[in-house]
Amino acid sequence: MTKILEVTDVSKAYGGVKANEDISLSIDQGSIVGLIGPNGSGKTTLFNSIVGAHPIDKGSIKFNNEELSTLTVDQISRRGLLRTFQQTKIYGQMTCMMNMKISKKLTGKFSDMFQTIPKEVEEEAEQILSFVGLYQKRNLRAGELSFGQQKLLELAMALINAPKMLILDEPTAGINPTLINGIVDRLIKVNKKYNITLFVIEHNMRVIMNLAQKIYCMAYGRILAEGKPEEIKNDKKVIDAYLGAAH
Ligand SMILES: Nc1ncnc2c1ncn2[C@@H]1O[C@H](COP(=O)(O)OP(=O)(O)O)[C@@H](O)[C@H]1O
Ligand SMILES: [Mg+2]
Repeated sequence: MTKILEVTDVSKAYGGVKANEDISLSIDQGSIVGLIGPNGSGKTTLFNSIVGAHPIDKGSIKFNNEELSTLTVDQISRRGLLRTFQQTKIYGQMTCMMNMKISKKLTGKFSDMFQTIPKEVEEEAEQILSFVGLYQKRNLRAGELSFGQQKLLELAMALINAPKMLILDEPTAGINPTLINGIVDRLIKVNKKYNITLFVIEHNMRVIMNLAQKIYCMAYGRILAEGKPEEIKNDKKVIDAYLGAAH
């Protein structure tokens, strides 16, 4: 299996807090991998390191064999590694279509903001909106969408840049339980139809067990366990970490 992402011995501290210590993991191209762990165990910190949001203290992060840890967020996203669901980045006053168009990175020059958007981008935006189930809402202001629909719009805004890998921080957080299955189905389709590798932080155990082929569990800034969903579910260290955190 080709590795799309390889994290080796990565550490990151905030002052005295060792948020990540000697993290190593690897992700096969085309797979869906989960990251679980109690609150404060360092999951978001790791995602921030991967996308270049902050410098790491030590270690290496390779995407398609290229070292990422010296690159900026923008350089990393241009290589096809995108993060979504960290915060809502949609513009509520603009229509869904307009949000899609401004998300599309053209040449990357600031002057693009003032250029007319090519017809192909318009068609592509419509196709992707229809893929996430928002085609009917394309001319509505994004602020009028439900929270779950806004998450789907964010997903669509990432897809228009044709990423190779998406990393998703708690995609179902705050979503009505009845809509969660819709998000999970969409993510599975994103993986299959567009062949996009997914790395997903998820609190909802049922969701991650259904979604991921492999799961890493973190605790206290370290990787505690890795394995298939069934292995993780029955791992005593994982069970103890969650029970420990709950008490
Ligand atoms: N920007 C920051 N400044 C200081 N401490 C932080 C910052 N971000 C996270 N931390 C600390 O790092 C640890 C890991 O946090 P985080 O990565 O957000 O965990 P998780 O996403 O698993 O809940 C926690 O102790 C948290 O308080
Ligand atoms: Mg977090």
